[in-house]
Amino acid sequence: MSKQRLEGKVALITGAASGIGAEAARLFVEHGASVVVADIQDELASELIASMSSDRASYRRCDVRDEAQVAAAVAYAVERYGGLDVLFSNAGALGPISSILDLDVAAMDGVLATNVRGVAATIKHAARSMVARRVRGSIICTASVAACVGGSGPHAYSAAKSAVVGLARSACGELGRHGIRVNCISPFGVATPMVCAAYGAEPEDIEANSCAVANLKGIVLKARHIAEAALFLASDESAYVSGQNLAVDGGFAVVNHSYSSASF
Ligand SMILES: NC(=O)c1ccc[n+]([C@@H]2O[C@H](COP(=O)([O-])OP(=O)(O)OC[C@H]3O[C@@H](n4cnc5c(N)ncnc54)[C@H](O)[C@@H]3O)[C@@H](O)[C@H]2O)c1
Repeated sequence: MSKQRLEGKVALITGAASGIGAEAARLFVEHGASVVVADIQDELASELIASMSSDRASYRRCDVRDEAQVAAAVAYAVERYGGLDVLFSNAGALGPISSILDLDVAAMDGVLATNVRGVAATIKHAARSMVARRVRGSIICTASVAACVGGSGPHAYSAAKSAVVGLARSACGELGRHGIRVNCISPFGVATPMVCAAYGAEPEDIEANSCAVANLKGIVLKARHIAEAALFLASDESAYVSGQNLAVDGGFAVVNHSYSSASF
């Protein structure tokens, strides 16, 4: 059996019924953690829990737009598993894809409610629990390559994910004195249900498109790769890593693609 990198830890993962969150839930349980899968897709989440067949995984319905539900999900983790060591604040929504000239400002509120207010509520309630119990916890937020490179996501989504990076840095500044680390992960394009639905495309088409514009060639980015980064940030292997935005993008965000496409 592989080394148990989260032995004895309790994790709450939002947006864990599907995609990146579901992969993280599986991986965290494999590595010895107890995991609360928090989401709004009851059926999918129940199927995931059943597939893991572990009493260290359970589902709690939690719409991150509703602060009371977030507080209740944290309380559930503490009640059921005795504390909270890791928050993976991962729930997100892409929102409409449109020109800025046609920006649906009302729809933007919805994107911000999930991706920014929702993340803020999870940080608040997870940190309250960690501070009260003197837990040197790890908080991980899913941002995006869209927070780093203009044009790589819809406008409201890019704004929201940039806010997530700022929020995580801000929380890092306050929570460090309590021994709590706060980091982000910024994935490049992964063919999850969120992306496939937004573009009305099959996973293979999304992957082909991502590979075509990727910097790192010869590998297809999968949800598992993002989950591995979350595992590192959740574990004690990253004990002195805080305030970082870990890009899992094969170098995409730090390369000028106009130059890199030149033939030399
Ligand atoms: N897939 C990508 O290419 C990509 C790239 C960068 C960042 N991300 C981010 O990764 C995270 C996970 O997305 P994914 O790609 O795995 O998509 P996904 O659709 O597979 O998973 C997103 C999950 O979030 C849940 N969710 C949505 N709104 C919620 C709410 N209000 N409360 C609770 N749960 C809610 C959904 O039900 C779903 O299970 C998101 O924050 C997304 O923005 C994804």
